[in-house]
Amino acid sequence: MVFWKRFFTPTPSNSATLSTTGTEEFVIDQESQSRVFFSTDREIDLYELEELCDAVGWARRPIRKVKKAVECSFLVVTMWEIKGNRRRLVGFARATSDHAFNATVWDVVIHPSLQSKGLGKALMQYIIRKLRHSDISNITLFADPQVVDFYRRLGFVLDPEGIKGMFWYPD
Ligand SMILES: CC(C)(COP(=O)(O)OP(=O)(O)OC[C@H]1O[C@@H](n2cnc3c(N)ncnc32)[C@H](O)[C@@H]1OP(=O)(O)O)[C@@H](O)C(=O)NCCC(=O)NCCS
Repeated sequence: MVFWKRFFTPTPSNSATLSTTGTEEFVIDQESQSRVFFSTDREIDLYELEELCDAVGWARRPIRKVKKAVECSFLVVTMWEIKGNRRRLVGFARATSDHAFNATVWDVVIHPSLQSKGLGKALMQYIIRKLRHSDISNITLFADPQVVDFYRRLGFVLDPEGIKGMFWYPD
């Protein structure tokens, strides 16, 4: 049990720029004077999502599979930038879950034009808060090597008690 207790170290749930308004949460990005909001609505233009993933250089995935992954995820969070009357997808993450104990976070991405402004942290804190609200206490993810420290700052730990993530791939 110690493993599960220590697996995830909670972090403060609110950043200074985060506030709650009904079901949506707003971050005001002072620098570019744009408004960014979170949504858990999974009615997403998958081609817009693909553009976002392209922007960070991720390999393309078949749209029909992405559609299924979005539909079957436990939680889907999008971030939208509002500038004037234009809205664009600038962030995305999703989590799969057994709906009771465990959730795994996937596809965390912030558009390069808005990176390093605290939005990735806000997105992850939002997801963590939503999952905790669903009484899920074990939150896992697979970090690319260059973002391990990003997740570490959010309270995630590597190999707790020597536990190793293991993978099986088809030949
Ligand atoms: C990783 C990513 C989501 C971070 O989003 P972001 O909005 O740029 O990050 P933030 O500005 O919220 O940074 C939050 C903190 O993490 C740090 N941080 C951000 N990216 C980091 C990185 N790659 N390595 C180490 N620390 C990082 C910031 O310095 C900041 O630290 P602070 O709280 O002490 O000020 C974003 O860079 C991204 O989309 N990258 C491409 C896709 C990707 O690699 N996704 C992860 C797949 S596992």
